[in-house]
Amino acid sequence: MKMGAMNKRLDGKHILLGITGSIAAYKAVDVLRRLQKEGAEVRVVMTEATQKFIAPLTFETLTGAEVVTTMFPAQRTIRTRHVKWAEWADCLLICPATANLVGKIASGIADDFLSTIVMASRAPVIIAPAMDYEMVQNRIYLDNCKKLTDYGYIFVDTQEGELASGAVGPGRLAEPPAILDSVYGAILGNETWKGKKVLVSAGPTREALDPVRYLTNHSSGKMGFAMAEAAFLRGAEVTLVSGPTDLRVRKEIERIDVVTASEMTDAILSRWPEQDILIMSAAVSDFAPIETSGQKIKKGDTLQIALKKTTDILGALAEHPHQGIKVGFALETENGEANALEKLKSKKLDLICLNQPDGKTTGFGTETNQITLLDKTGSRNVLPLMTKWAAAEAILDHIDSWVCQKK
Ligand code: CTP
Repeated sequence: MKMGAMNKRLDGKHILLGITGSIAAYKAVDVLRRLQKEGAEVRVVMTEATQKFIAPLTFETLTGAEVVTTMFPAQRTIRTRHVKWAEWADCLLICPATANLVGKIASGIADDFLSTIVMASRAPVIIAPAMDYEMVQNRIYLDNCKKLTDYGYIFVDTQEGELASGAVGPGRLAEPPAILDSVYGAILGNETWKGKKVLVSAGPTREALDPVRYLTNHSSGKMGFAMAEAAFLRGAEVTLVSGPTDLRVRKEIERIDVVTASEMTDAILSRWPEQDILIMSAAVSDFAPIETSGQKIKKGDTLQIALKKTTDILGALAEHPHQGIKVGFALETENGEANALEKLKSKKLDLICLNQPDGKTTGFGTETNQITLLDKTGSRNVLPLMTKWAAAEAILDHIDSWVCQKK
């Protein structure tokens, strides 16, 4: 599948990127590229001072669109362009933002195109400041930040580090991933899960045969990690129990790494009583060797390994006294819906997400998934092929709009 055809986290979203006159202006290129990679359509506004640091042509080339640099261009076509642009934007990202721009917004000054759009827009405004360490600690600047935070403006705090002046201290523009996280939070997150505790399992498990070999499966953990992240962005307190994967997760999500099905069982069962929602996306091994050889098994013509069943974690929770929302996944290669419905019932789940891998666009290790949602009221929702991020959002929407209200 072509990348361009996929649903991405910011697919269809409009972001107005305002760049102000700081030496960190060149870093806006990286941020712009990342936003575009996630599917966002980006328009760029630059202030007068910004053009001393970086040329509009850079951004015109990257966006394929006009970059606005002045309130009153020579050839004006639309009379109230600032209002049109303000309405168009789902989010305003000012990156980097100078102390001057922060001061202007805090004082209600709208004397150029960027500050006028900020004034005219109802979309969330994210401010990623960059300045020297003396300025970032200035009382007036700090008062302005406080005032704007109280009004709902979102700040991506500067980092400590080496500054353009050669000094070391706070004031460096935040790293692009942190800036992107704020955009996701502002656009996708709506704090509807604030106060909820969500437990997510992800990835495969490994069952050792001997010191060098193990039984496992192809799960990459991507779906579960996307679920954990999406729940976090809705304001939930998230615990992620992960089998072995190379994936990384933000530090605000509590991560518990496990290897075997038995370790995953202990981690989930011990935490379940404090949780509101469990999302079991892990591909837990159903079998483990009865005995693990202490030494490497030597080769012979044949090898027979006796396996025992592992604990069915969701099965074990079916009669648990703690009541909470339980979401399972069903990976089926045949009779998908019938098997998934059977699991929904026997494991007493609220919702099951059926995944029927074709090995190319959906299933283990792929970036996309095609999921059918089946819930305990009998509702059936066939989702289109979408990225695992988008699928995670759709699953949480389902939990949000139906399951949470029911309980
Ligand atoms: N699951 C679990 N404990 C296990 C195995 C699976 O809690 N030991 C969970 C999975 O995380 C998933 C759901 O049960 O949410 C269904 O998993 P799946 O592998 O599709 O089905 P199984 O119950 O293992 O049945 P089968 O392998 O026979 O299809």
